[in-house]
Parts: sequence; C-alpha cells; structure tokens
Amino acid sequence: MKIISKTRLKMPALGQGTWRMGEDPANEANEIEALRTGLSYGMAMIDTAEMYGDGKSEKLIGKAIAGVNRDDVYLVSKVYPYNAGRANIFVSCNNSLQRLGVDCLDLYLLHWRGRIPLKETIECMEELVRRQKIKHWGVSNFDLNDMEEIWRLPGGKNCAVNQVLYHLGSRGVEFNLLPSMRYEGVIAMAYCPLGGTNMAARSNITHNKKILGICEKYDITVSQLMLAFILKHQNVAAIPKASRSFHSAANAKAYDIEIDEDDWDIVNKEFPAPTKKIPLDME
Ligand SMILES: NC(=O)c1ccc[n+]([C@@H]2O[C@H](COP(=O)([O-])OP(=O)(O)OC[C@H]3O[C@@H](n4cnc5c(N)ncnc54)[C@H](OP(=O)(O)O)[C@@H]3O)[C@@H](O)[C@H]2O)c1
Repeated sequence: MKIISKTRLKMPALGQGTWRMGEDPANEANEIEALRTGLSYGMAMIDTAEMYGDGKSEKLIGKAIAGVNRDDVYLVSKVYPYNAGRANIFVSCNNSLQRLGVDCLDLYLLHWRGRIPLKETIECMEELVRRQKIKHWGVSNFDLNDMEEIWRLPGGKNCAVNQVLYHLGSRGVEFNLLPSMRYEGVIAMAYCPLGGTNMAARSNITHNKKILGICEKYDITVSQLMLAFILKHQNVAAIPKASRSFHSAANAKAYDIEIDEDDWDIVNKEFPAPTKKIPLDME
C-alpha cells in the first residue's frame, strides 16, 4: 500500500469515503461489504463525519470494522464548525469514538470554517491529542488564506491535513493551495475524487474521446484514471466513496496503475491545470 509519509503523520494514500452511507437500513449489508472489501484490498483509511447521516455513517463503520485489528484501519472523522470549540468538541469527539467503537481517532478534522475562532479550535484539537482521543488533527475546505491564518497561530503548524474538493475536472487547488501545503508539510485529502454529485463535471470526463482512448489503452475505467490522477500528485490522498463492493475493488486497483507521461500530457491538455487563482470548489 502506498503510504504518504511526512514528519507529522503517515497515512494511506487511498481511502474510502462514506458520505450518505449508513442512512438506509436496506443498504446496510452491501455498504458494510463494500467497506470490508476496500479494507481487504488495502484501502485502510475510512473517512467520515459526525454530520454524515447524523452519526449513522460512523455507526455503519463501527459495524464494518468490528473484529478488525485497530492498527489495520485508519479512521478520520470531522467535527461540525459549531461544535469545534471548548463547549462541545470534547463531547462531539467522544460521541464519534463511541459510534465507531474505538478509543482514538487517527485524524480529526474541522469540517469547514465557522464562527468559532480558529485559535480556540486549535487549542481544543491539541487538548484532544494530549488526552489521546485523536492522534492528529486537520481542517477541511480551507483555501490558502485560511491555511495561512492557521499557520500563523500558536500550534497551527501542527495542522496535518486539509481535506478539499479535488478531481480531474476541478483542479483549482493546484494553483497555489497544494504547493503551499506541500511546502508546509500539510497533506491534501482529495474529496469527491470521482466528481462527487457534480454529474456535469463527471460526464465531461467520461464522455471525452481522448480520455476514453487512454482508458482503453491501459484497460482501466475512467474512475480508475481519475483516482490515478490524484495519486500521481505528491502529498495527496484520495477518498472515493463506494457503496458497492465491485466499485471498492475497482478503486483499490488505482494504486497499481502506471500511465506514461505522454498520455498524462494528453489528459492535461483535455483538463488543464489552472493558470490563475480560482476560488476553492466545495461540495
Ligand atoms: N470534507 C468535505 O466537505 C467533504 C465533502 C464531500 C465529500 N467528502 C468525503 O469524500 C468522500 C468522497 O466524495 P463523494 O462521496 O462525494 O464522491 P465520489 O467519491 O467522488 O463519488 C462517489 C460516487 O462514485 C461512485 N463510484 C465509486 N467507485 C466507482 C467506480 N469504481 N466506478 C464508477 N463509479 C464509482 C459511487 O457509487 P456507489 O456508491 O454506488 O458505489 C458514488 O456514486 C465522501 O464520501 C466523504 O467521505 C468530504
């Protein structure tokens, strides 16, 4: 398994998203199987949030990882912005741990920036680390100006991860956010790596004749190419969500895809990197 190794943390480069999973009991067995399939193929990181299904996603994961060696799964959860202060974060974190059935999260993220001062959130995150409730902390949906603010605050350089929307059809983060994060040793977790719910963006890619030609040449699917695109970038992890096992298995194969630079040049021409600052895309 490819591991991103930085001074602050080691984390798997490919994980599993769980947004909208755990919400319908009729899908539970398939969703659990999909997560277990992903784990069996080495996609050890599972991303969730207290927001997802109001805790139901965390409960589903708890069931999927029951009996799995704790060291074989890397758990990421997120706190609502309005819970990310002294008044609520400790209860929020404990609730997430309880639903997941574990003692400690590998990574805890501020889901997006809200009204609670970042300084207070950082102090709370550091306190959670001291209490051994979380191993590392980070943020999500932070653009460069927000990251720069974090880096200026006491303890802010301990921010290990920024989870942002990033896929082949939405490359704005490449302009200055990812290079600055790389410089500061902050890992990017690409959410919606398959386009998420943006069907138009996904459809542009899946219907592009040159992309289809490359996929045919390497005998891969467009989704696998989209994941290989993320994994090609240094310091970036991807968390595709799959609620069906055959999708989990297909996604795990993205680890091993090797595409010639000439073909990446074609991909880059069809879906170019940004040449100017673009506001952060969000789901
Ligand atoms: N921090 C944030 O604000 C934020 C926002 C959005 C998402 N996220 C996280 O990022 C994760 C991923 O984003 P996402 O769920 O929005 O979208 P995504 O992973 O880009 O796309 C998920 C969709 O792709 C399908 N899919 C998965 N593997 C596939 C494959 N191999 N071939 C074809 N289709 C495939 C899934 O189908 P099936 O489910 O039917 O298998 C699902 O419909 C979320 O689940 C969540 O954990 C974070």
